[in-house]
Amino acid sequence: MGSLRTQVGIIGAGPAGLMLGHLLHLNGIDSVIVENRSREYVIDRVRAGVLEQGTVDLLHAMGVAGNLQREGLRHDGLYISFQGQRHHINLTELTGGRAITVYGQNEVVKDLIDARVATSRPLYFEAEHVSVGALDSSSPVIRFRHGDVDHDLRCDVIAGCDGFHGVCRPSIPAGVLSMYERTYPFGWLGILAEAAPSSDELVYTLHERGFALFSMRSPKITRLYLQVPPDEPIEKWPDDAIWEEMRTRMTTRDGWTPTVGRIIQKGVTPMRSFVAAPMRYGRLFLAGDSAHIVPPTGAKGLNLAASDVLVLASALKAFYEGGRTERLDEYSDICLRRVWKAQRFSWWMTSTLHRAPEETAFDHQRQIADLDYLTSSRAAMTSLAEQYVGLPAEVSFASAGLPS
Ligand code: APR
Ligand code: PHB
Repeated sequence: MGSLRTQVGIIGAGPAGLMLGHLLHLNGIDSVIVENRSREYVIDRVRAGVLEQGTVDLLHAMGVAGNLQREGLRHDGLYISFQGQRHHINLTELTGGRAITVYGQNEVVKDLIDARVATSRPLYFEAEHVSVGALDSSSPVIRFRHGDVDHDLRCDVIAGCDGFHGVCRPSIPAGVLSMYERTYPFGWLGILAEAAPSSDELVYTLHERGFALFSMRSPKITRLYLQVPPDEPIEKWPDDAIWEEMRTRMTTRDGWTPTVGRIIQKGVTPMRSFVAAPMRYGRLFLAGDSAHIVPPTGAKGLNLAASDVLVLASALKAFYEGGRTERLDEYSDICLRRVWKAQRFSWWMTSTLHRAPEETAFDHQRQIADLDYLTSSRAAMTSLAEQYVGLPAEVSFASAGLPS
């Protein structure tokens, strides 16, 4: 049995856990990261890819944005397409110079793992039987097995960054958390294709046959999504059928269409909105997907994880520097304000751009009117733009020990 001790025990090496570990490192605070999957699995997992301006700025301030700067694709606008026509929304002009950057979440994770390894601070992959205990004491514990050794890791604080299916949230006693959940009657079939993107910017489409999204990962790789039933078996979709459906939904009257190429990855993901509140129990703090899930239509998942850990790092800095716990006490409320605004935005994008099985002809006409208003009113476009590039953070970079 190995007995370990650290200041902050972090469960999960996704974006939330890795970013938190690095923010703490920059403030001289010790952490141990415990991840149950392998390094390869974590890096290869294909996920979303839109970074808000604030997330890009945060990664820069943390000194981990070298590859992002070289390979990230800055987008100053996006398209909303319906009734065969694409409408441009100029994010940068509407937000006083802000933009989004397309850079795969797995690239973010790879960069953060490299940064972690360079610090020589502990990061255990393939940890087994991970559990947490003594959460309401001042010395909570993470237990796990690594190789042949059982470890008992004593901490001051535990950060539950272990995603929606992790162990942290279920370890909180029954009755403490309020859970808010909504599932949607559809999922997304997503593909990566070896095809040069035929548009420089994302295209969100509402078609008679359902939602479709045009995105990309690099000048040579296109990323596309289609609305399908939530439990759709991927076997029902041979590559030719995927391309036919993508082109049917996305082709506009002016002839714009995605370029076809070899499909190198495909899968179906269900969609849900979920919030657990508060994001804390005793000395356990939940961050990222362990506390909340958004449907991908607003591209907010990774960005919420980043803003949670900025707030947590800033509170932990105050805790270690002056023994102050007020900032930790405010953690959940500060995060949840942003989380609920992102939930509202993601729900709105989702319900405006998808066709629900139970929808009526009235509902569909209302969606068209919503999109017509959005793309013809500067006020409506500004509202979308400021949410899409990311609302302002409630805590400063300086409070987390970063250059502004
Ligand atoms: N023990 C240790 N690690 C665990 C456990 C466990 N019992 N359960 C899950 N994990 C790990 C997962 O393998 C994963 O690497 O926790 C990590 C959680 O990472 P993410 O799911 O990526 O969640 P998060 O870091 O909060 O990032 C949120 O990820 O799901 C996307 O779209 C979402 O972009 C958002 C982002
Ligand atoms: C992606 O590129 O994977 C992507 C883009 C925008 C979204 C969701 C996913 O809303």
